[in-house]
Amino acid sequence: MDFALRALPYAENALEPYLGAETLRLHREKHHGGYLDELERLIGGSPQAADSLETIVATATGHLFETAAQVWNHDFLWRSMRPRGGGDPPGPIAEALVRSFGDVDGFRRMFRMEAMEQFGSGWIWLVLDRGRLRVTTTDNAQLPLTRGQTPLVTLDLWEHAYYLDYRNERKRYVEAFLDHLIDWDFVAANLKAEPPRAQSV
Ligand code: FE2
Repeated sequence: MDFALRALPYAENALEPYLGAETLRLHREKHHGGYLDELERLIGGSPQAADSLETIVATATGHLFETAAQVWNHDFLWRSMRPRGGGDPPGPIAEALVRSFGDVDGFRRMFRMEAMEQFGSGWIWLVLDRGRLRVTTTDNAQLPLTRGQTPLVTLDLWEHAYYLDYRNERKRYVEAFLDHLIDWDFVAANLKAEPPRAQSV
């Protein structure tokens, strides 16, 4: 795997006013970059360094797992957002959300509620799980890959992700993500890579 911190897919200030440039810079350089540095310290130069990040996540335990998983989670996070994102999903995504949540607002309510109920640090995800879309949260560095779920989009619920912009108001941060940041094209691409199976009753 490559231990270099990749560029964001947009400018640091591109998500303003919903996420500030300082938040993105600190989050990417200090947190995401810090996990990459730690991962290199743990396995750099070893045979394991030649493995893909996904393989390391799937096989590691303890501190190595947590560090590798946080690198994977942050890579996925940056691609989960885009400037002028959010709002209504495109038709095929809307149809999938209706099948699983009753309507698009049902998805939004579930996402908000689960994000607010996550106690402490973690992540909220829209995943594909046995052919259905689900909203789920994970604690700390945990991620859906180890549960056999396919992640479609994520939002970081660690306070470092939003405290500069929203202080303790996680709800406003989550609503800004849904209304203005979520990249539905990224969801569509992940769903297309693994389309939902026909539902069994
Ligand atoms: Fe983070």
